[in-house]
Amino acid sequence: MLASLDEQARAILAKNDRGGFTIPTARLYPFQWNWDSVFIALGLATMDDDRAWRELEMLTEGQAHDGMIPSIIFRKDDADYFPGPNVWQTRNGAIKGTGISQPPVLASTVAHFVKAQGDNGLERAKALFPKMLEWHRWWHDYRTPEGVGVVCTVHPWETGRDNCPDWKIGLLNMEIDPNLEAYQRKDIEHADPAERPSQEEYDKYISIVKFGRDNGWDQRLLTEKGPFLMADPGIFFILLRADRDLLWLAQKLGADEAEAEIAAWIKHAEAGVDYFWNDELGAFCARDVRSGVFSDGFSNASALCFYADVGSAEQRRKTLAHMSRISTKTQYGQSSWDPDAPLFESQRYWCGPLWCQMNYMIAQGLREQGEAEFAEKMRQDLRKVIELSGFYECFDPISGAGCIGRDFSWTAALWLAWAGPSSVQSSAA
Ligand code: DGY
Repeated sequence: MLASLDEQARAILAKNDRGGFTIPTARLYPFQWNWDSVFIALGLATMDDDRAWRELEMLTEGQAHDGMIPSIIFRKDDADYFPGPNVWQTRNGAIKGTGISQPPVLASTVAHFVKAQGDNGLERAKALFPKMLEWHRWWHDYRTPEGVGVVCTVHPWETGRDNCPDWKIGLLNMEIDPNLEAYQRKDIEHADPAERPSQEEYDKYISIVKFGRDNGWDQRLLTEKGPFLMADPGIFFILLRADRDLLWLAQKLGADEAEAEIAAWIKHAEAGVDYFWNDELGAFCARDVRSGVFSDGFSNASALCFYADVGSAEQRRKTLAHMSRISTKTQYGQSSWDPDAPLFESQRYWCGPLWCQMNYMIAQGLREQGEAEFAEKMRQDLRKVIELSGFYECFDPISGAGCIGRDFSWTAALWLAWAGPSSVQSSAA
């Protein structure tokens, strides 16, 4: 008999478990990834709270001395992946990691667990609190350059939305390092090259890594003189949301000394929201920091303003209008890039596919901000696409075909925690 989707999802999480942490999928991504683990923990918590906390604790074991939690934690090298620890050559943590971070969703999941588990989760949250505080401080210090006023990013990989057309302006402004060593991509050995970033994009990604490595991962130098500096509405909205959740945790845990600092970050971010508003498009967009030029398309990160609880009534109305228009072009949820924009490709990584974790955050924001019907449609769309194609990394938002990695952990986790009929949200609905 065929296993149910719940059983398949649990089997994927078990198969990808590497002893207290979970890889996204074998071969293509064989390490612990930062925001993957945080979404994976939501799925683990439907089976075993202790294991879910362990996932988050093992993520923070990779924290660097300056407070950054890297995008990837390399516990050992793996020939299946490029660029591995020998390419990054970081030396600033107990465990090797990349020299960049990833969207900081951790505090939001910790707050969610404390709300769901009550006193049972409080001790685990308390132990994680100083690490989360240090990490948020890192974003507000090292990634918020003097004179810019909003959080920035130095690498498309740091945004988690690797090859989204949002980064086109920043990448156009930089050169491929003429001394780049020859290298062999591994991703296109495990996945269809037509669904992965282009070679030119990869050369630029690796050029930024080379700059960081050649300069000893001096994070200030990266924002001052690094090849790429953009502001990402995804990181901005996710950090603002996570700051709000961290403040709630500080109050809950009685961490009085941290409250004023976190409250100041929130106030500062709220004052910076309009930096991302592209009036011509009527949307929150990425922006090249050095030239001030806006990206020219609506991405799924543009829709996260509800999740961060920001934007004027007019900005929210225009954002919803884009989302409604996009819903008429896709069959399944919000695509990662606007189907009406020139660089849309329905199956290429972040140029169009539907991503479950983005849709989860967007829907959460919509539900909280009084758009429950829209939120429920997004949840049902994710359910349908998983029923149609299984647990892929992402999906063609028009045909529903699964793209890139198979047996993907965050898709399995969000099925159990949110989209599937047996999820808590379903029984609450
Ligand atoms: C990859 O290897 O494609 C990852 O997204 C980088 O973090």
